[in-house]
This record gives sequence, structure tokens and C-alpha cells, in this order.
Amino acid sequence: MKELHPHLDRLKYEYNHWDDAIHGFREIERSRWSKSSSNILARIRHLAFPGPEKQQLPQTHILDLAQSGVIKPHVDSVRFCGNIICGVCLLSDAVMRLVNVEHKDQIVDILLQRCSLYIMKDQSRFNYTHEVLGDKESFFGNEAVERGRRVSIICRNHPSEKI
Ligand code: OGA
Ligand code: MN
Repeated sequence: MKELHPHLDRLKYEYNHWDDAIHGFREIERSRWSKSSSNILARIRHLAFPGPEKQQLPQTHILDLAQSGVIKPHVDSVRFCGNIICGVCLLSDAVMRLVNVEHKDQIVDILLQRCSLYIMKDQSRFNYTHEVLGDKESFFGNEAVERGRRVSIICRNHPSEKI
């Protein structure tokens, strides 16, 4: 966060049209990092992407969701990213909800704790929508989850030719 702050703070949070997937966010992409952040990202990428390095998108996407921000249900476009994404969750716990595209009663809630890493691949990427719940909707089971400002550091791989 120390490294990202000056870049993020230059931007305003965007509250776009109601049909956009993400509300109350600002975002940047970075491919150059300090030595210590590069080391952390290299470990994460090594864990998440078992294939050759050239399959990964070199940019890392930083998504800063305001306290009032939400990510509405969506499936990432298969034209722009491949079968794996991983995300480091910073500053706040959050609940990510996966809903099966064809069987909407198949719902999986995932508690993404502050400072955790998640890896989402294959079925969960293509057959489920994903969303990050707003503060008032954030429950994990019966437990309310306090949702503050949340920053995710996301790495992706290239779309596969087979898809
Ligand atoms: C996205 C997204 C998830 C996250 O940017 O498309 O779903 O953890 N992000 O921020
Ligand atoms: Mn997404």
C-alpha cells in the first residue's frame, strides 16, 4: 500500500452508470515495482501460474474499491484474460460470491480476509459469476463482515487459443 498510495491518490473514485460491473472504484496497472514488492509478486505468480512465464500478463491490475463500492456479478471477458486470476486482498475483509450461471441456486460465498490471496481458475471463472458484496450485504454465514475500503492486487494470464 505504501508503494501504491501516491499513484492511487491521484485518481478519483468512479461511480459509473448503474449497469457497469464495478461501482466506487479507482484502478491502475503496474509492471514496475520496488525490489521487495517484486519479490512478493514473483512468489504469488509462481504459486498461481504453473505454466511458462510468458503465459502471464506482465501488468498487475490494482483495483481500489471505496468503502461504499461494490463489484456486481459478472464473468470476466474471455477475450482479455485466461483461465486463472489471482488476487491479494488488502485493507479490508470482503465476501466474494460465486453464482452458477445456469443453476442460480448454486451459490458459493468466500470470505476473502484482509491480507489473503485467492486463486480463481477454470470452472469458477467461466461457469460462475463473481461479485464482491457491499458493506450492508456482507455476511459470511450469519456473521456480519465489516467491509471497508478494499484494495486488490490482481494478476492474470493470457487467453488460451483453445477458448
Ligand atoms: C475484476 C474483479 C476481483 C477483486 O476486476 O474483474 O472481479 O478481487 N476483481 O477485486
Ligand atoms: Mn472480475
